[in-house]
Amino acid sequence: MRQIAIFASGSGSNFQAIVDAVQAGTLKANIGLLVCDQPGAFVIHRAQSAGIPAFVFRAKDYENKQAFEREIQRHLEAAGVDFIVLAGYMRLIGPTLLESYGGRIVNIHPSLLPAFPGKDAVGQALEAGVKITGVTVHYVDAGMDTGEIIEQEIVRISIGETRDSLQEKIQHVEHHLYPVTLNHLFLTTGY
Ligand code: GRF
Repeated sequence: MRQIAIFASGSGSNFQAIVDAVQAGTLKANIGLLVCDQPGAFVIHRAQSAGIPAFVFRAKDYENKQAFEREIQRHLEAAGVDFIVLAGYMRLIGPTLLESYGGRIVNIHPSLLPAFPGKDAVGQALEAGVKITGVTVHYVDAGMDTGEIIEQEIVRISIGETRDSLQEKIQHVEHHLYPVTLNHLFLTTGY
């Protein structure tokens, strides 16, 4: 069984969807660790409620990215983690973690990549006036949302769509797509 770590910075609704899928037995994996760079983020409470250990840090307490990623790596190794799932982790992964976990780090992004990478993908789609956007699960490389695409699902933008309504539609798709895609990946790639 895969031993995964989830990295998150905020509310953690995707973290929750993955926890729920593991508890329901539809995602065959163990969640060994939450890594969170925002003390006070709601995802930390979710981890506590689910009995999942958390490593919470402040980037500014470290000299640089290499220093805090080395610390993260120690926690990952202690928890026996072999696969990293980014779920709203608002930082680029650096060389330290890419060297150890390259090809075993995935992310979810709220657009049909390569369209609308980076911050505020929902706002970017509305601003562009497109009628179709969606969700992408992809491998993580050194770039910003540039890694190989694993799975995508379409979300239509209706006439009169608001930012809140589109955000809700996208999150609804994410909460289904991420656990299903992870399970499929673990079954088919032997991770
Ligand atoms: C999601 O929309 C995800 O696609 C993006 O960050 C958001 C995280 O939301 N990478 P949550 O913290 O899981 O609710």
